[in-house]
Amino acid sequence: MARALENAGVVLATSCEQGVCGTCLTRVLDGVPDHRDLYLTPEEQAANDQFTPCCSRSKTRLLVLDL
Ligand code: FES
Repeated sequence: MARALENAGVVLATSCEQGVCGTCLTRVLDGVPDHRDLYLTPEEQAANDQFTPCCSRSKTRLLVLDL
């Protein structure tokens, strides 16, 4: 996801790029993220209101982010 954002001209702060540090944590406004990080707890992932775009993807066709 981070690469897609970068290709779209969005500057995203990243560090580990492996879903460990939380630097890239981004609020999700709509859609369901495919969480692939180790940073968020299972409960936080289940809330689907934030995700780590450095390593995660989308389960839905549209994922609306608060950038
Ligand atoms: S850059 Fe570390 S979790 Fe995304």
